Order: sequence, then C-alpha cells, then structure tokens
Amino acid sequence: MGRKNARPRLTLRKNSAKSRISKAQLLISQANRMQVDSLDNLSRFKVFERNGMKLNITLSRVTDLDQDVKDWAFKLTEENMKKYYEESEWGWNPSAKQNELWNDAAWYVIARDLDHNLKAFVHFRFEVEEDKPVVYCYEIQVESDMQRRGVGKFLMEIIHLIGHEFKLKKTMLTVFKHNESAFFFYTQLLGFQVDKASPSMSGEDRCYEILSKRILLKDSVKTKLDPINSKLKENSQAEIIEKGKIKKKREKGKMKQKIDAEKKEDQNVTCENGIVKL
Ligand SMILES: CC(C)(COP(=O)(O)OP(=O)(O)OC[C@H]1O[C@@H](n2cnc3c(N)ncnc32)[C@H](O)[C@@H]1OP(=O)(O)O)[C@@H](O)C(=O)NCCC(=O)NCCS
Repeated sequence: MGRKNARPRLTLRKNSAKSRISKAQLLISQANRMQVDSLDNLSRFKVFERNGMKLNITLSRVTDLDQDVKDWAFKLTEENMKKYYEESEWGWNPSAKQNELWNDAAWYVIARDLDHNLKAFVHFRFEVEEDKPVVYCYEIQVESDMQRRGVGKFLMEIIHLIGHEFKLKKTMLTVFKHNESAFFFYTQLLGFQVDKASPSMSGEDRCYEILSKRILLKDSVKTKLDPINSKLKENSQAEIIEKGKIKKKREKGKMKQKIDAEKKEDQNVTCENGIVKL
C-alpha cells in the first residue's frame, strides 16, 4: 500500500556510509536495467498452476503497460484498499494513488488467466533504503475471486527472488495495522518482520508499519532458480570447451609451423661432393 516516506531514506553519516550508498545505487541501477524477459530465467514462475487454476505471469516496466492495464491496477487498488485508507489518518486520495502506481520507476508482475483477464499484480521498485539496496513492494492486489488461493504468495516470492538475483538486501513494504488479513499474510505466512525504519520502532504510534524480509543466500538460485544456474553452467562449460578448442588449434598451428620450418631447413641442406652444406 505505497509507502509513507515518499522518498527513499538516505543516511549520510560517514564516508563509509557514502560509499555503501554508491554501491547500493549501482546495484539498483543494474536491477533497473533488468530485461523484461528475465522471467524466462525464473521459468518455474512464468505460470502459476494450482487446483486446476492456471495463470500466466509477466514482468513489465510501467512505461510499457497499456493504459487499460494501468486503469485496472488503479481500479483494483481502489476496490480493495479505499476503505483502509479512509479509516486511516491518510484518507483516500485517488490522484496521489494514480501518480504512485504510474510512476516511471514502477515495475509490475502481472497475473492473467488463460482468457487474458487480469487477476493480480504486484508493483515494486528498486530503491536505496538507508544505505541498503532493496526491493520495495508498493502494492500487491489480488482480485477478490482469486484471493486465498496462493497467488499473492507466489507474486511475493517472485519479487524476493528478483531481489536475490540483483544482490539486494531485503524486500520491504508498508502495511496498515488495521488491514489485519494483509498483516497476517506478510508476518505469519511470509515471514516479514517489523523493520527498524518502522515508526513503532521509535515509539511512534502510527496507522502503519514498515515490514521487511532479508534476502538470504539460501533463498537462492540453487533451489529456486535452477534454470539460471544450469544456463550459467552450460555457458561456462561451453566457454571451457571453446577455449580448449582454440588452444588445440593454436598448438596444431604451431606444430605445423615447426614442421614447415624443419622442411624448409631440410630443403636448404644441400649435398655437394658428398659434403653436407648447411
Ligand atoms: C493480501 C493479499 C495480497 C494476499 O494474497 P492472496 O493471494 O490472497 O494470499 P495467498 O493465498 O497467497 O496466501 C498464502 C497462504 O496464506 C493463506 N492466507 C492468506 N490470507 C490469509 C488470512 N488472512 N488468514 C489465514 N490464511 C491466509 C492462503 O490460504 C494461502 O495458504 P496456502 O499457501 O497454504 O494455500 C490478497 O488477499 C489481497 O489482494 N488482499 C486485498 C488487498 C490488500 O490488502 N493488499 C495488501 C496491501 S498492503
């Protein structure tokens, strides 16, 4: 549900913090250069299939989405969230929500059924929070007929793994405390914890918490993204074979040169009156 502190928090305490921030920014810009076919590497995440339900999953930059998809994302957010905003100190502000959803920095993972009906989305961005590169989940919304069927969990896993791919430190989000079902979903089912940046950590009683989940090595490529790994392995294997071939070719070439040189020398050896001249 968006984020309260509209701009990522940067702490500039010491030089070491500065250098951590520039490293973090570098990782973020690498992540933002991600190709939209990156999900091909996450092949097991391209289709969500459970209990006879099948959804196709795609990754897009907001700038590549058609306006009707952007309108749907806003409408679904309004349907699901307006009541929570109205109950909060923030209130519901449709144009602010549209600006947030359609901001150029936004990335979307979208689930559609086989008839191309839009069913769920997650809007995330790559950001530096304090001095750490993170995946910030701005919005996750599932159509009501699809809720509690595993789709939300699946979409959250995808963005966490994308974060892992780009060596980011954690997945973060903001949640209303009174959205109990979402709070339960993140904390009890997905293992998110209240982040140190959350207002409650400094004793403030606000209507929301900031939650985060560390991205660990074990979240990894090996177990979840095998296709990437094996592709890398295949590539390096191919590289080794290719290098081997080049080396052999070079050796062959050298050998031929040597033989040719020897032949030439042989030809230069003449025999005159039984005396060998070199
Ligand atoms: C919150 C939301 C994103 C969760 O997505 P979802 O697809 O409904 O949740 P999932 O089915 O993936 O949840 C994973 C598991 O938790 C269970 N679960 C989900 N919500 C639960 C709840 N409130 N209580 C108990 N179990 C719950 C699911 O049954 C599922 O279990 P399983 O994996 O054993 O089948 C979705 O319900 C939604 O869009 N809600 C409205 C909008 C919203 O509040 N967004 C969050 C804004 S911060």
